[in-house]
Amino acid sequence: MVNDKAVLAYSGGLDTSVCIRYLQKLYHFDVITVTVDCGQNDDFKEIEKKAKAIGAIKHIYIDAKEEFALNYVIPSIKANGLYQSKYPLATALARPLIATKVMDVANIEQAAAVAHGCTGKGNDQIRFDITMRCLNPKLKIVAPIRDMNLTRDTEIKFAEEQNIPINTVASKYSVDLNIWGRSIEGGDIEDAYLEPPEEAFQLVKFNDDNTGYIELEFKDGSPIAVDGQNMNINNLIEYVNKKVGAFGVGIVDHIEDRVVGIKSREIYEAPAAIAIIEAHKDLEKMVLTKHELRFKQLVDEQWSWMIYSGLWQDPLRIDLDRFIDETQTKVSGQVKLKMRRGALSVIGRESAYSLYKNDLATFSTGSTFDQGLAKGFVELWGLQSVTANAVVTEVKLDQNGGKKSR
Ligand code: ARG
Repeated sequence: MVNDKAVLAYSGGLDTSVCIRYLQKLYHFDVITVTVDCGQNDDFKEIEKKAKAIGAIKHIYIDAKEEFALNYVIPSIKANGLYQSKYPLATALARPLIATKVMDVANIEQAAAVAHGCTGKGNDQIRFDITMRCLNPKLKIVAPIRDMNLTRDTEIKFAEEQNIPINTVASKYSVDLNIWGRSIEGGDIEDAYLEPPEEAFQLVKFNDDNTGYIELEFKDGSPIAVDGQNMNINNLIEYVNKKVGAFGVGIVDHIEDRVVGIKSREIYEAPAAIAIIEAHKDLEKMVLTKHELRFKQLVDEQWSWMIYSGLWQDPLRIDLDRFIDETQTKVSGQVKLKMRRGALSVIGRESAYSLYKNDLATFSTGSTFDQGLAKGFVELWGLQSVTANAVVTEVKLDQNGGKKSR
C-alpha cells in the first residue's frame, strides 16, 4: 500500500523535526519537507540532511528572500506596519508567504495534507491555517504539536526515544529570524521585569559610543537608496540593519496581545525596520495633507492588526493596500537620521512633493501668510466651543438667581 503524502513547513527546529516522525508514525504519511528562506541565515544543506535523516522522502528548499522583501516587506513599510505601535511584524509577514509556498508544493505533489509545527498557543498557527484554507479549503491541515497538546518537554523526550537529532546545546530562547527582524521569546526573559541580557541580541551591538548618520532615499514610499548608493531592497535592508544596529538601535521590548488572548513579553531586534519606518513616517508628514495623515493613521493601524492576526488573505487587506499605494505616489524624497547609544532620531528631510513652504511658515520678514485672514477663521473655528461654554454659564446664572430660563 502506498502512503498519502503530506507536505510539512520545515524549519529544522525541534517542533518541526518531531513533526516529521509524528506524521510518519501516527498519521502514516510520506513526508515532504519544505524550507522557505526569508533570510533566516540557516545552514540549509544541514537542514536538508536532517530532514532526510529523520525520514523525509523529499526535501525542497525555496529561496523566497526577494519575493518576501518586494511583496510583503515593502507594503509593510508603506503602511508603517507596527503592531500595537511597536512590533515591525517580521514573523507575521513571513508566515503567509511560507504557507503559500507549502501549498504550491502540495499542489504539485498531489499531497493529501499540509502540515506545520505550530503550537496552539501562538499566532503562527492562525497565519498558517488561514492562508492555507484561503488557498484551498478542501486540503487537510495537520498540526501534530497542537493536535496532541504537546509540551516542549514531551517533544524532547520523544526526540530522544526516536533518535531524532536535536541541538545538544539547545538555545536559551525561542528565536525567529528573517530579513525584517528577529524575535526572542522564552527562557529567563519570560520574567517581564527582567532586563534582557546583551547576549540575547545579534543584530544590535552595545559597544559604540560614537554618533552616526544615515541617509535614506524613498521613491513612491519604497526605500531605494542609502547613503547615496542605490541598492535593491534586500541589500538595502541588510546595510541598514548593520549600520544602525551597530549604534545599539533597534530593540523593541513590550507586552503584546496575542490573537488567542494571551499577553506575552516580546523582545525584538529590528534595526532596519525601526529606522526605515521612522524615516518613512517622517517623510509622509512632509508630503501628505493633514487629512490624508489622519485617515492613513487609521488605515495603517488596521493593516498592521490584520497582518498580525493572520488576515493577509482577506480582501480588506488588498483594499487597504490600494488606498495606501495611492498615497505613496507622493512619498519620495530624502530623510537623514542620527544614531547614538540606542537612540535614533530624524534630523532632516526633503522632498519635491513637500507641502512645507518656508514662505508660509517663516517667522522672518518675507512671509506670504496674511495674518489678517486668521482673525475671522479663528472666530468661526471656535464658534461652537465658545457658544457651549456661554450656554452653561448662562444656565447656572439663571438657576442661582432663581429666574426661570425660557
Ligand atoms: N510574537 C511574534 C509574532 O506573533 C513573534 C512570534 C515568533 N514565532 C515563533 N514561532 N518563534 O509574530
